[in-house]
Amino acid sequence: MNVKDAIELRRSIRKFTPERVEPALVRELLEAARKAPSGNNSQPWRFIVVEDADARRALAQVSHDQQWMTMAPVHIAICADLGARAETDILFDEETSGMDAKRVIRDTAIAVDHMMLRAVELELGSCWIGWYTQEAIKPLLRVPSHVFVLGILVVGHPAEQPNPRPRQSLEDLVCRGTWGTPF
Ligand SMILES: Cc1cc2nc3c(=O)[nH]c(=O)nc-3n(C[C@H](O)[C@H](O)[C@H](O)COP(=O)(O)O)c2cc1C
Repeated sequence: MNVKDAIELRRSIRKFTPERVEPALVRELLEAARKAPSGNNSQPWRFIVVEDADARRALAQVSHDQQWMTMAPVHIAICADLGARAETDILFDEETSGMDAKRVIRDTAIAVDHMMLRAVELELGSCWIGWYTQEAIKPLLRVPSHVFVLGILVVGHPAEQPNPRPRQSLEDLVCRGTWGTPF
């Protein structure tokens, strides 16, 4: 599979078969994330692989009770570590401002996309979950206060093939030369 195919085929998957995900495949996803680019090569991403059923239930519960998440045998918490850029005596949550916080979130998001595209190539399904609060999720994962839980990537063998969700046209998104000039 080439990158174009992976981009075209990727969907957020919310139904999974009960089949386990081999540890070697999980490792492949983590390797794809590790290779992502980051500003100053700061690599602020950190990962917590969660396979325990009770722990996955708890993650689904704090994610506004999205119970379907528990169908996915692997949850990967993707964390942005402010310590890669700044002092660590800071609470990193939804209210945190400042460029360092933005930078580590920006860089970590790239790593998530690498994982999602690699998952397509490995015939795995995934969905990025972001609908929770830092206050609720951090204690479950014992994440320190200077670390932001950017997403839970739920991963499994897909049991659905959703149609593509709509996207805006390039005409609505692209300018030529300066902002507002049609392409
Ligand atoms: C940052 C982020 C957070 C998301 N959070 C959730 C979520 O909590 N629950 C969910 O079902 N989907 C979630 N999604 C998936 C989006 O709904 C999905 O990407 C979007 O509808 C486009 O569909 P597609 O991924 O199939 O192209 C999230 C996606 C992103 C990028």
